[in-house]
Amino acid sequence: MPEEKVSTPKKDLLFFVCSQCGYQSRKWLGKCPDCGEWDSLIEEKRTPQVRSPQPVAQALSLTDYSQADNIRLITGITELDRVLGGGIVPGSMILVGGDPGIGKSTLILQLLAAIASKEKKVLYVTGEESAQQIRMRADRLGIKEGSIYLATENCAESIIAVTSELSPALLAVDSIQTMYSEEVGSAPGSITQVRESTAKLLALAKGIGLPVIVIGHVTKDGAIAGPRVLEHMVDTVLYFEGDRGQVYRILRTVKNRFGSTNEIGVFEMKENGLSEVDNPSALFLAERPVNVPGSVVLPSVEGTRPILVEVQALVSPTSLGTARRTAIGADPQRLALLTAVLEKKIGATLYDHDIFLNIAGGIRIDEPALDLGIIVALLSSLYEKKVDQSTVVCGEVGLAGEIRAVGQMEMRLRESDRLGFNRFLMPASNTKLLDHSDNSSVQIIGVKTVQDVVEHLFQP
Ligand code: TYD
Ligand code: MG
Repeated sequence: MPEEKVSTPKKDLLFFVCSQCGYQSRKWLGKCPDCGEWDSLIEEKRTPQVRSPQPVAQALSLTDYSQADNIRLITGITELDRVLGGGIVPGSMILVGGDPGIGKSTLILQLLAAIASKEKKVLYVTGEESAQQIRMRADRLGIKEGSIYLATENCAESIIAVTSELSPALLAVDSIQTMYSEEVGSAPGSITQVRESTAKLLALAKGIGLPVIVIGHVTKDGAIAGPRVLEHMVDTVLYFEGDRGQVYRILRTVKNRFGSTNEIGVFEMKENGLSEVDNPSALFLAERPVNVPGSVVLPSVEGTRPILVEVQALVSPTSLGTARRTAIGADPQRLALLTAVLEKKIGATLYDHDIFLNIAGGIRIDEPALDLGIIVALLSSLYEKKVDQSTVVCGEVGLAGEIRAVGQMEMRLRESDRLGFNRFLMPASNTKLLDHSDNSSVQIIGVKTVQDVVEHLFQP
C-alpha cells in the first residue's frame, strides 16, 4: 500500500450523496446502488478537515467504569417509560419519528413537562415553530413548569453552546430536518446537514452524558428523511403512528440499545394533549360488531404487552376479472399465502372471490400468531357463519395447513380471561406447555390443522 501523502493546501472534495439513504459516491450515478432510488444523488462539496493528533486511547477493566451514571431518567408516563425500556438512559440519543401532524411535538413537550415537574431543568429547541406557538401549545396542555427552557434555533453549534451554558437534564430538538451545522456547506434539510447536525448532537450527548431527543419527520415512502442514516447513529428509534382521523396514537420501539424492541405505548389524543391508554384491548374492541360473520378476536402480544384486536375479513364473489386481495394492518403476502393454504387444504374456493382483510382500529400486527385469526375471519366470511363472540383464536399456520405454536401463551390467556372471553382456540402444542395452575375459567381447545379449526368453529 502506498504511504499516505500529506498534501497541503487541501482542495474541496466533490461527493455525491443519495438524498434518500445517505449513500456516498465519488461520481454521479442515475440510480442509487444502495436504496435503488432514481435521480437521488446530489452533489456536495466538502472541505477536508485537518486532523489533529489523536489522543492515546485508554483501556480500563469493565468493572472499573462507574455505574452511577447508568441511572435512568424516569418520565412517570408509564406508556412512554415502557417503550424506552424503563426510562431514558443518560447520554443516549433517541429519535422520535412520525408523520407531520401526528403529535410528536405534543408528546415531547409532555415528556419535558414530566421531567421538569421533578425540579429538573430541561431544554426544548425548536427550529420549526415560534416561541409563541410553543407557549400556546403548552397552555393548551396545561403545562406550567418553569424549568422548561425554550430556544428557537437552527444551528447545531449554537444549540451546543446554549446547552453547555444551561446544563439541562434533557435536551429535545424539534426537528432534526430544520437543523444545520456551520461546518457543512450544503443547505439545511439536506442529507449531509441532517447527518452532521445529528453527529454534533450525538457527540454532545456522549461527551457530557446528556440524553438528547431528536424529532424527525417521515417522508411519504415511510422513512424518516435521511433516517436510514440516523437510525444507525442513534441509540433508540421510536415511531409515533396512528391514523390522523382516529384519536389514538401508538408509539413503537423500532430500535433500542437499552431495552427490547416491539414495545408499544398507546395514547389518546384529546383536547388537552395526549393521555395514556392503560387498557388498549378494551379500546380496540370497543366498536366490535357482535354476531356477524367475518370477525374474530385475536390476543396479540406486542413486546411485553398483550393486546386483543379484532380481525375482520370480507370475502365476496368477484364481479370483475381478477380477484382483489387487500390487507390493512397485516402483511398482504401473508394473506396470499394463507389463502393458498385454505384452497389447497380444505378446498375453499377463494380464487373467484375478492378478499379484504382489516385489523380494526388501524393497528398493525406483524406477529405470526395473526395467521389463525386471518384464516378464521376469512372462513367465517366465506361460509357466512359467525364465530361465537366470546371465542378468541391465535396461532401460526404453516404451508401444510398445520397450526404451529406461538410464544407468550400465558399472557394471551390471562388478557383474554380478563376481558371476559371464555373459549380459546390455540395450537395443540401450546396447550401442553400451558401452566394450568392459574385456574382460569377459559375453555382451551388445541388445534393441529386447519381442518381441526373448521370442525371446531364452523361444523355444528
Ligand atoms: P403536533 O404535536 O404539532 O404534531 P407534529 O409535531 O407531529 O407535527 O400535533 C398536531 C396535532 O395534534 C394537531 O392536528 C392538533 C392535535 N392536538 C390535539 O388534538 N390536542 C392537543 O392538545 C394538541 C396540543 C394537539
Ligand atoms: Mg411538530
